[in-house]
Amino acid sequence: MPTVTSPIQTDRLLLRPFVAADLDALANILARPDVMRYLDDDPLTRDEVAAVIHEREGMNRLDTQGDTLMLAIALRDSGVMIGSVNLIWHSQEHAQGEVGYTLHPDHQGKGYASEAVRAIMTYGFREIDLHRIVGTCDDRNSASARLLERLGMRREAHFREHAWRKGEWRSQYVYAMLRDAWRDLH
Ligand SMILES: CC(C)(COP(=O)(O)OP(=O)(O)OC[C@H]1O[C@@H](n2cnc3c(N)ncnc32)[C@H](O)[C@@H]1OP(=O)(O)O)[C@@H](O)C(=O)NCCC(=O)NCCS
Repeated sequence: MPTVTSPIQTDRLLLRPFVAADLDALANILARPDVMRYLDDDPLTRDEVAAVIHEREGMNRLDTQGDTLMLAIALRDSGVMIGSVNLIWHSQEHAQGEVGYTLHPDHQGKGYASEAVRAIMTYGFREIDLHRIVGTCDDRNSASARLLERLGMRREAHFREHAWRKGEWRSQYVYAMLRDAWRDLH
């Protein structure tokens, strides 16, 4: 199965594996309460981000189900690292995957997350032969829900208070895209 050795390129972005030198840029993202508001973790310390980077450095391939491809999003023009995008391979038998994404707030509102997620979904449908890719978000995370809708994903579920996190009940939207629908769109 494929290893991402050379970056996936889009019009404005490079999606590439994480490297140790991403520590400062990633710490600037994952330490922010506004970024972490609807994610599972609390804002991370620099030491915690160093451990995250170490883990992410090895997440450059989808060898088998259960693997996560985790890529840094960098601007093509400057090389500045502005966020991350990932694809989880949930099931080989059922050809199911899931996308995730995070952008530094200075770079939100420009379509970069949509561009990155679109590229990693194309990778999943083409290289891993996925049949269905889902994206989930807290039902209050309107920027994330808008992104998934912009990509043409269909809202399939609204789980009410399905998880207890950070001292509150969380409700979740589940969006999905089938390969045939993706092919029709692109
Ligand atoms: C979720 C998240 C990645 C969305 O980022 P984003 O910048 O809003 O998403 P996009 O890259 O798709 O940008 C879309 C916005 O850019 C605007 N835009 C400007 N130029 C654009 C272009 N060339 N192409 C597309 N959109 C463009 C769109 O109109 C849209 O604005 P709107 O949402 O106000 O309508 C971001 O809010 C984030 O990182 N949040 C914190 C982490 C998080 O919650 N992650 C998701 C967990 S489920």
